[in-house]
Amino acid sequence: MKPAILVTRAVFPEILQLLSQHFQVESNQEDVIFSPPELVTKLQGKQGVFTTASARFNAELLQQLPDLKMIAQMAVGYDNIDVAACSAHRVMASNTPDVLNETTADFGWALLMATARRITEAEHWLRAGQWKKWSYNGFLGADLHGSTLGVIGMGRIGQAIARRSMGFDMKVVYHNRSRLDPEQEARANKARYVSKDELLRTADHVVLVLPYSAASHHTIGADELAMMKPTATLVNLARGGIVDDVALIAALRAKTIAAAGLDVFENEPKFHPDFLSLENVVLTPHIASASEATRRAMAGCAAANLIAALGGERPPNLLNPELWPKS
Ligand code: GLV
Repeated sequence: MKPAILVTRAVFPEILQLLSQHFQVESNQEDVIFSPPELVTKLQGKQGVFTTASARFNAELLQQLPDLKMIAQMAVGYDNIDVAACSAHRVMASNTPDVLNETTADFGWALLMATARRITEAEHWLRAGQWKKWSYNGFLGADLHGSTLGVIGMGRIGQAIARRSMGFDMKVVYHNRSRLDPEQEARANKARYVSKDELLRTADHVVLVLPYSAASHHTIGADELAMMKPTATLVNLARGGIVDDVALIAALRAKTIAAAGLDVFENEPKFHPDFLSLENVVLTPHIASASEATRRAMAGCAAANLIAALGGERPPNLLNPELWPKS
């Protein structure tokens, strides 16, 4: 008999088709968001789950799921999965790294440019019928070319963002848990490793691409915002919670930094309503990886991990390798 799996959210139909060749699939094309108790009920008797980052897998949930063997997540970030608890319950977990690096880096630049050059603010003004004449000082923004880009979190996506800055003749400084090797630094537009404080003081544009964890919670708060240049922009592509949104709202309101571009928020999809009253912030609904090709690739990657794991093969993106080889 085929193993039973749950697909927690709506997904591309061809992925459901692929999964149903291998599994008995319970799908959710109505895209209902399951509460934790509903998830526990739905997962009874299931050996696998194809999930997105909107479901939380912690010890409390896992101990109620004795049949579960594999959590295949369609996202690179996996702060919603307690990997140590998974290992303790002998549940494998996987994510979808690499397939989204370039698309996410493209979007980082789109958000950075929209923020620095005030594109959405200007468009709202135009749509509101306020464009009566050209003016010498209309929507003056900050240049990208020739400026200093600061990247916090210099993993694969951070490096792809830094590489793109060569075309804008920019300098790159970065901060990361560990320093890159010299070849990687050279490829990332000769990125220079600096302390977080030096980065915040010297960068004209700060981009956040670090994973969320207890250690990275509020990496950018009131003190860090106060170190930034008043002309600086801040872009968060990573996860809500890395920035203290209340402190950011205060800084944007007081214009102690020029502007922010945010694709992620604390408690999303809810977000602090005060962002809506600010003109100097560009807001997008967690879409950095959302190109047609990349979202299909992410779904395919998560499916491949699930098929491998429940078929007795090592999943290519296993997050808890200590569970392999299986004892
Ligand atoms: C998106 O945020 C992801 O982690 O893939």
